[in-house]
Amino acid sequence: MDQLKHALVVGGTGMLADLTIWLVKNSYHVSVIARDNSKMENLIQRTGKHNVTPVLVDYKKDKELRYKLKEINQINGKIDLVVAWIHSNAENRLEIITKELTNKAYDWDLFHVLGSSTDPEDLKKTINLHENCIYHTIQLGFILEENHSRWLTNKEISEGVVEAIENDKSNHVVGVIEPWERRP
Ligand SMILES: NC(=O)c1ccc[n+]([C@@H]2O[C@H](COP(=O)([O-])OP(=O)(O)OC[C@H]3O[C@@H](n4cnc5c(N)ncnc54)[C@H](OP(=O)(O)O)[C@@H]3O)[C@@H](O)[C@H]2O)c1
Repeated sequence: MDQLKHALVVGGTGMLADLTIWLVKNSYHVSVIARDNSKMENLIQRTGKHNVTPVLVDYKKDKELRYKLKEINQINGKIDLVVAWIHSNAENRLEIITKELTNKAYDWDLFHVLGSSTDPEDLKKTINLHENCIYHTIQLGFILEENHSRWLTNKEISEGVVEAIENDKSNHVVGVIEPWERRP
C-alpha cells in the first residue's frame, strides 16, 4: 500500500471540515489546527476516526504554535500540503508555519484561503515565504443567482478548495468576485 501523504489544515474543523474529510479519503494523514475540542471530536467521528491528528492550539500564540508544528513534523513526517484559513488579523502566522515546516530538501504546497475582499496580488507583496513553499491563493467569492446574490456555503467552499488542489491552481476564485457591487 502507498504511504500516506501528510497535510495540515489550519481551521480544518469549520468551513473546511469537508475538505479535511476529502483529504483523509484521498490518501492523506491530516493534522488539523483548531481550538475547540468538541468540534474536533465531531470531525474525527466523521472521518471514521482514521488518519487525523488533532492539533488543539490558538494559532495567535507564537510559542505554542511553533511547538505544535515541530511535534506534528516529528509524529507524522514531512509536510506535503498545507491549506490555511486564517483570520485576516493573524496572517503573519503563515511565516511561522512555513518556517517551522520547511525542510530544504523538498518542495511543498500551500493553499491560502482568502476572504472576498483580500487582493491576492497585494497580499503576495507582504508575505515572506520560504522558496521551497509553492504558494497558491484561493479567494472566496459569492454566488450570483437570477435576482439576488448569496455567500458561499461551507460545502461550496470545501469543494472549491478541492478543485484548486486537484488542478494545481495558482490563483483560484470560488464563485465570483465581480461585479463586486452585486455582493450580498
Ligand atoms: N466569501 C464567502 O462566501 C465567505 C468568506 C469567508 C467566510 N465565509 C463564511 O463565514 C463563516 C464564518 O467564518 P469563520 O472564520 O468562522 O470560519 P470557520 O471555518 O467556520 O471557523 C474558523 C476555523 O478556524 C479555527 N480557528 C479560528 N480561530 C483560531 C485560532 N485563533 N487558533 C486556532 N484555530 C482557529 C476554528 O476552530 P476553533 O473555533 O475551534 O478554534 C475553525 O476551525 C464560514 O462558515 C463561511 O461560510 C464566507
